[in-house]
Amino acid sequence: MYYPEELVEEIRSKSDIVSVIGSYIKLQKKGANYMACCPFHNEKTPSFSVSQQKQMYHCFGCGAGGNVFTFLMQYENYSFLEALRTLAERAGVSLPEIEYSEEAKRASDFKGRLLAVNKDAAKYYFYQLKSERGKAAMDYLKKRSLSDETIQKFGLGYSTKYADDLYKYLKRLGYDDELLGQSGLITMEEAKGAYDKFWNRVMFPIMDVNNKVIAFGGRVMGQGSPKYLNSPETPIFEKSRNLYGLNLARGSRKNSFLLCEGYMDVISLHQAGFPNAVASLGTSLTTQHARIMARYVKEVLITYDSDAAGVKAALRAIPILKDAGITAKIVDMKPYKDPDEFIKALGAEEYQKRLDGAKNSFFFEIEVLERNYDLNDPEQKTRFYNEMAKQLLQFPEELERGNYTEALAEKYKINYGSLRKLVNRYGAQLEPIQAAQTVLRDKEYKKKKGPEEWLLRSQRLLLTRLVEEPETFGRVKGIISPQDFTEGLYQSVAEMVFEEYEKSGAVNPAKIINCFEGKEQQVEAAELFSTQILAPMDEAQRRREFADTVVRVKQSSLDAQYKKAVEQDDINAMNIIMEKQKGLGKLHSSLNPG
Ligand code: GTP
Ligand code: MN
Repeated sequence: MYYPEELVEEIRSKSDIVSVIGSYIKLQKKGANYMACCPFHNEKTPSFSVSQQKQMYHCFGCGAGGNVFTFLMQYENYSFLEALRTLAERAGVSLPEIEYSEEAKRASDFKGRLLAVNKDAAKYYFYQLKSERGKAAMDYLKKRSLSDETIQKFGLGYSTKYADDLYKYLKRLGYDDELLGQSGLITMEEAKGAYDKFWNRVMFPIMDVNNKVIAFGGRVMGQGSPKYLNSPETPIFEKSRNLYGLNLARGSRKNSFLLCEGYMDVISLHQAGFPNAVASLGTSLTTQHARIMARYVKEVLITYDSDAAGVKAALRAIPILKDAGITAKIVDMKPYKDPDEFIKALGAEEYQKRLDGAKNSFFFEIEVLERNYDLNDPEQKTRFYNEMAKQLLQFPEELERGNYTEALAEKYKINYGSLRKLVNRYGAQLEPIQAAQTVLRDKEYKKKKGPEEWLLRSQRLLLTRLVEEPETFGRVKGIISPQDFTEGLYQSVAEMVFEEYEKSGAVNPAKIINCFEGKEQQVEAAELFSTQILAPMDEAQRRREFADTVVRVKQSSLDAQYKKAVEQDDINAMNIIMEKQKGLGKLHSSLNPG
């Protein structure tokens, strides 16, 4: 951050979140909070809540959340500085000249140095592509119909045939071995010494939303295995969070994104005039990817490969997108394999037609389901209809479920009344589960989202509770430490929360959010302070739930420590951890006496 923290904090405290957000959307007071329909996703019933006390907002539907700065960043698509200037002006605070010493300090930090290495590597690869040595690579890209402008825009490059060309170059620029090893671009081995990871490949720099190079993908020219080689994860490159092309797509001002599988698909689409194409690289779509996209668009058109693997990936992606509040549609590219090949064969206009005709994700799911049944066989047909009825239950709202039931009845020429009865019958079986206690909901959450996300949710719950109820800090002090939070960002936030409590006995969540630089991180940090329990609870249930949460967080932390101790053959540590694990039951009853 360029401006001193105190100044940022002054502007924030002079910008009441309720009046700022209230100037954009209509807020209604509900109890202690203000509610509205969420401006970041499509909804009919308000789930967007603004808290005057916490000076934060949170949407229970799509997970958007943050403080007054992140609101402007999300709503107006501003950078942090733009949001700061706008609010400063509104609050009548004048901003001094930018302080450069802060930036200089930042440049010296580790992430800053990793970014610098990647930037220099990208320049180097780009230079090689343009040089005589890069001729074959340039020919390859040209053969794949990429224009000079596109090559420039995506900063494509070439890694030479020499084993340590990049290494030598980066050493000449003064980078040390330790840093180069950590960058993932250079492999350091005792026996062989240092050599480049990428060798004789066309290089695709991967950029973050701020256009900073954070990693690379390298493709063999022609046939060869592996076809693509990607940078490993580093402190600046988390695969589950990064979307290729997002740096460009976010500014495209389109109301949907085109979600593809590969680098070349994104690049081809951009070149053909579709600046809203993105791809998750080297990993299948994650909840984080979906949440990030939800900050920019309400609709995603899935344009995955048309083969069996692509269909499977699309079926997997649909519920993930839906959970993030995104409407998903499926683009049919048959008879071509992927968007790149489609555009090459039929051109942009035809592709646009396919986008216009993109299929509602539910109909797509039903069509894929249909492929498993022979509808000429009455028995199989009945089974298919039963399956269909179960699928219709994914719409919790009666009206919506009715509309889909009607549409399917018409499409498959089923009697509407019969289909509706079938749906209701399965619905009745489901009802008791939905009405059951929190514990069950918790279990359902775990089943649906997986144990890892469930644990992260527990950590979020704990942080929210810490911030909302200061007395909680006294209760977990000495039991829970920031190290018990397993994810990098969670740990940093926990560190700040604990530090603030030690220092002043109170926590200002909005101030903590400002300590993060990137918009994505700020929004995510905000979520850590606004996680809610899944069902209403009375005092006793809340106490029990709190004890469960603390023990769960502690237990998983101890399990992780134990695993590490085993790996390191540290018997002493193993014993200590085992003792602590034995004490968990006691811990639970001390937090939830009686
Ligand atoms: P082209 O053949 O160049 O058109 O590739 P593509 O963009 O069509 O990609 P493809 O559909 O073959 O693969 C999708 C994505 O999966 C790629 O962009 C890579 O990120 C990743 N991928 C593909 N092949 C490999 C591989 O061999 N190893 C790894 N790690 N990732 C791969
Ligand atoms: Mn391809």
